[in-house]
Amino acid sequence: MAGIPHEPYTPRTGFEKWLHARLPIAALLYDTLMIPTPKNLNWMWIWGIVLTFCLALQIVTGIALAMHYTPHVDLAFASVEHIMRDVNAGWALRYLHANGASLFFVAVYLHIFRGLYYGSYKAPREVTWIIGMLIYLAMMATAFMGYVLPWGQMSFWGATVITGLFGAIPGIGPDIQTWLLGGPAVDNPTLNRFFSLHYLLPFVIAGLVVVHIWAFHTTGNNNPTGVEVRRKDIETAKRDTVPFWPYYVIKDLFALAVILVVFFAIVGFMPNYLGHPDNYVEANPLQTPAHIVPEWYFLPFYAMLRAITFDFIFEAKFLGVLAMFGSLAVLALAPWLDTSRVRSGRYRPMFKWWFWLLVLDFLVLMWCGGQPPEGLVPTISLIGTAYWFVYFLIILPVLGVIEKPLPAPATIEEDFDRHYPPRAAGDGAAQPAE
Ligand code: HEM
Repeated sequence: MAGIPHEPYTPRTGFEKWLHARLPIAALLYDTLMIPTPKNLNWMWIWGIVLTFCLALQIVTGIALAMHYTPHVDLAFASVEHIMRDVNAGWALRYLHANGASLFFVAVYLHIFRGLYYGSYKAPREVTWIIGMLIYLAMMATAFMGYVLPWGQMSFWGATVITGLFGAIPGIGPDIQTWLLGGPAVDNPTLNRFFSLHYLLPFVIAGLVVVHIWAFHTTGNNNPTGVEVRRKDIETAKRDTVPFWPYYVIKDLFALAVILVVFFAIVGFMPNYLGHPDNYVEANPLQTPAHIVPEWYFLPFYAMLRAITFDFIFEAKFLGVLAMFGSLAVLALAPWLDTSRVRSGRYRPMFKWWFWLLVLDFLVLMWCGGQPPEGLVPTISLIGTAYWFVYFLIILPVLGVIEKPLPAPATIEEDFDRHYPPRAAGDGAAQPAE
């Protein structure tokens, strides 16, 4: 698919011409900033920028934290306390980093569910989606390893439980677990490699983000109608789009500013709200906490992991591992499982119901993951896990065949004009004095 036609970069000054002949970097920046973007994007298209901000925030605060942190089991906990008490603004660095991870996941979940609702994963944006899934996996690995570093009780026992999952793989599991940990249990080699990888992975994510952006700049953005930009020539494309700069830059920065007001309020006034008090107790391999829970953003997947309580061919624990990784695999396969010809959920009356049920399912699973696995919790988790798979493996393929979609507008321009009718000449403009 050819990119959306737009006016090319033309070097004007002597220096620009000189540089352009040697390194066309200004042309690259121009094409990136001035890219024609559908003019009807709504507020759900702001999360990409929020995610980019979060990545930058995590890298900057993380590098500063690493200057004062010591990745050794005897010193790690104390070094974090030292950051909080002695390092200038160390508390701010740490709380920005810990809550920054939460903002990162809030944004990524909204970004993913936006993609699921508006069918952004569908052709020709499958590669954007798959790169997104790789980013998401890398984010989860990074967050998981980061949580181990303060070497509190939850750090230690969370790491023990999660790496123990690999031990559940029949046959080779225990060997893989030992290899991952660097020994028979979570200990100094584990902490050291987790620190090393926790520092490395954000840069891998940054590389993947560049490819992600490259991919959707090639196909052009999706938009709430799911209708493609007309690409016949520059003039036609202009009727469906506006340049990214200044329109969306200003809109996105406004949204980011509003979100940051809430974020800084949390960092300043309730920085431990999303954390667990047990992580302020130093890791003790001889004392298991009453209730081991991961960070909130892992809870839906933690619920799936614990949902299967019976053996069936394999041990229950391994089935839980399969359910957890399988849930991500079916999400990644969404572009090929969704058979609908209509892209956007806006024009899919049946799809909407199932989609909102999936959102509810995700929230219920999140609740289940935070509860002790007693009473009705395992049953609700099992039903929730089953619905996740049913949505992707049955509902998405079948709906595309049986659903009768509503008529979508023929063009983005038509959708835009419906929301913002073009003003008649003189309407709203300054009137000449009588
Ligand atoms: C560090 C993480 C990520 C960053 C920085 C990022 C960045 C962006 C940006 C800037 C956009 C365009 C604007 C927007 O839609 O908000 C975008 C679009 C998109 N992203 Fe991400 N993304 C990330 C993670 C993900 C993940 C985890 C997925 C899904 C698995 C994903 C799937 C998509 C899709 C399908 C689009 C195209 C939607 C469209 O053009 O309308 N992204 N991303």
